[in-house]
Amino acid sequence: MSVLEINNIKKSFGRTEVLKGISFSLEKGEVLSIIGSSGSGKTTLLRCLNFLETADEGTISVNGSTIFDGSSAKKLSDSEIRSNRLHFGLVFQSFNLFPQYNILKNVMLAPTLLKRGSPEEVEAQARALIERVGLSDKISSYPCELSGGQQQRVAIARALALKPDILCFDEPTSALDPALTGEVLRVIKGLKSKDSTMIVVTHEMEFAKSVSDKVLFMADGIIEEYGTPDDVFGAPKSEKTKAFLNNSLERF
Ligand SMILES: Nc1ncnc2c1ncn2[C@@H]1O[C@H](COP(=O)(O)OP(=O)(O)OP(=O)(O)O)[C@@H](O)[C@H]1O
Ligand SMILES: [Mg+2]
Repeated sequence: MSVLEINNIKKSFGRTEVLKGISFSLEKGEVLSIIGSSGSGKTTLLRCLNFLETADEGTISVNGSTIFDGSSAKKLSDSEIRSNRLHFGLVFQSFNLFPQYNILKNVMLAPTLLKRGSPEEVEAQARALIERVGLSDKISSYPCELSGGQQQRVAIARALALKPDILCFDEPTSALDPALTGEVLRVIKGLKSKDSTMIVVTHEMEFAKSVSDKVLFMADGIIEEYGTPDDVFGAPKSEKTKAFLNNSLERF
């Protein structure tokens, strides 16, 4: 059974059709990279999965149960949306840490509010996650005392604290100085395991090539190409994919 299955997702803003029928599935432990030019709909797709936007059509299923059905007349309640959202962890380009709390509290906050275990358990788990992203020495620091790369690693620990079924990254390194990009990509790479399923929207082609099980190239709201990194990077079928990859390579 797939962890995530999305079928014919469509989304328009006014008369602009941004997603024109996106379908794919993800198996447990898979890493999917989504690449594509600016404006192709990558962020909108992640936002629809996370219920920050409501898709107009299509279905979204997690672990075999349908959590969204665009054809259903019944509107999801706020509490249904909140619980659906918990299937997904989201790490944005901007880290959005709480500036008034130290690193430990930033990571503990959501599981504490949602009562995911005793205070001792929540703290032990947060400490383990902070260690996993290599920041144990910064546990009592405040976000403003950390570099951008370190803040992004805290944001990753915070997203993991709610044990999402699927962890989604939206260009996690594009706000960072190139020197800090590597440390964040290494942390993401280190999370890859048979239990963690990830979707990474990225412009880092080398990363997409080396970490992904599948690569999806989006253009103008459709899936232009989908396959293994060897397929998509090594033998792209569509002219649009070839042009995009040539352009991306020229930039470096
Ligand atoms: N809330 C909104 N209202 C109106 N139009 C929107 C909204 N959000 C996105 N769009 C439009 O949808 C299109 C796709 O935007 P989206 O942010 O999904 O692209 P993207 O692939 O993530 O681009 P980038 O690589 O620049 O992040 C764009 O034309 C954008 O202007
Ligand atoms: Mg985007």
